[in-house]
Amino acid sequence: MSREIAFVFNGNKMNMAIEDHWTLLHLIREELGYTGTKEGCGSGECGACTVIVDGNAVNSCLYLAAEIDGKELMTIEGLASPDGTLHPIQKAFVENGGIQCGFCSPGMIISAKALLDENPNANEEEIKEAIAGNLCRCTGYVQIVDSIKSVSGHEAQEPHVVAFRSEEGDRGD
Ligand code: FES
Ligand code: FES
Repeated sequence: MSREIAFVFNGNKMNMAIEDHWTLLHLIREELGYTGTKEGCGSGECGACTVIVDGNAVNSCLYLAAEIDGKELMTIEGLASPDGTLHPIQKAFVENGGIQCGFCSPGMIISAKALLDENPNANEEEIKEAIAGNLCRCTGYVQIVDSIKSVSGHEAQEPHVVAFRSEEGDRGD
């Protein structure tokens, strides 16, 4: 059965006819043509398909498209500015080596965005918890966590601590 739904997609209002059996992942990739959101497992295990619905990170492979009616959807394409300037979280992943093959990256970055929107000062434990459902086969996670830490308020003081320690070392104390 098909139905009409209305929702906000990356800041733009949309109306469209959908089929009841479509997943949100199908709607995004196959119907809207936005392929930044990845399909990994298709069964809620890998997080590659993560998007934000009304502020919450969800696995779009398990989420029915019909449920987006009246809601706000954000995908990875909604993060960069229209002129192509990367969002600070995207920039942090690039600068900290948080991206290797890139397959997990949209889901990781979207999970990080949902976390930092809710908790801008997330600490390392909170970051690890937020990306616990996102699998990466390349990076070993350290650079991903470092990337997110670098844009959370929590990390802001750490470079000073490192500099202070190295100065102590130089003095031979
Ligand atoms: S594709 Fe949705 S969780 Fe893996
Ligand atoms: S960068 Fe390759 S899966 Fe994460």
